[in-house]
Amino acid sequence: MKKYIVGNWKMNLGEQDSVALAQAIVNGTKNLSQTEVWIAPSFLSIPAVAKVVKGSRVQIGTQNVHGEPKGTFTGEVSCSMLNDFGCTFSLIGHSERRWVLGESDTVVARKAAGALEQGITPIFCIGESLEERKRGLTQEVLRVQLTALLEAIPKPQLKDVILAYEPRWAISDGSVGTVATPEMIKEAHEIVYKLCLDAAGVPPKAILYGGSATDKNVAEILSVPHVDGALIGGASLKPDSFNKMAEIAEGQ
Ligand code: PGA
Repeated sequence: MKKYIVGNWKMNLGEQDSVALAQAIVNGTKNLSQTEVWIAPSFLSIPAVAKVVKGSRVQIGTQNVHGEPKGTFTGEVSCSMLNDFGCTFSLIGHSERRWVLGESDTVVARKAAGALEQGITPIFCIGESLEERKRGLTQEVLRVQLTALLEAIPKPQLKDVILAYEPRWAISDGSVGTVATPEMIKEAHEIVYKLCLDAAGVPPKAILYGGSATDKNVAEILSVPHVDGALIGGASLKPDSFNKMAEIAEGQ
């Protein structure tokens, strides 16, 4: 089955470094035929990176987007603006936006709906905090986050949404953090898959795992049932590591 290797560059690289990294990824993945290689630079680097990936198998998207096509939303960027540069996807509801920047379930769900309406594939991020996990609330947290999404979109359209299960406690702070165990990932992905089928009657387009994935652990992560790829932060900034992850995904 085709796997997704998605790089989330966060607020790390300026235009010059973004272009260099994108070029190294284009070169390093050109012989792959199956794996989806997607990268999410900062908004400001999108125009330059778009030129680098044009005609390659690498797709670009953004780390955030607004749900409305246009309007009085100071500081925001719409999907039609992304379309102008050939962006095909956007991360939505990443935990750093939910928890650090205060985006609610309703806000991120509306963003996903807007993205779908405007032809941008949402990578909708969900996941529990360490405290919620310790209190046995993982399933409930995932259910609430998914329910908000399914209230905002026509349910059958879930098939066009990529979900990313990213336990908040496993996301690194730039260095490599604590990766979830394969058992934890298996359990959570099963929960997500089943919740989707029960609530929407269709599975999502894919379910990615995110949180301290590297070239050392990605083979094991990708072999877990219902894991269709990885959303990668820290390790996506190192071209050798990211390209190797794509290669491993290709071989699975
Ligand atoms: P990480 O980040 O791979 O650095 O843990 C993943 C993410 O935040 O998407």
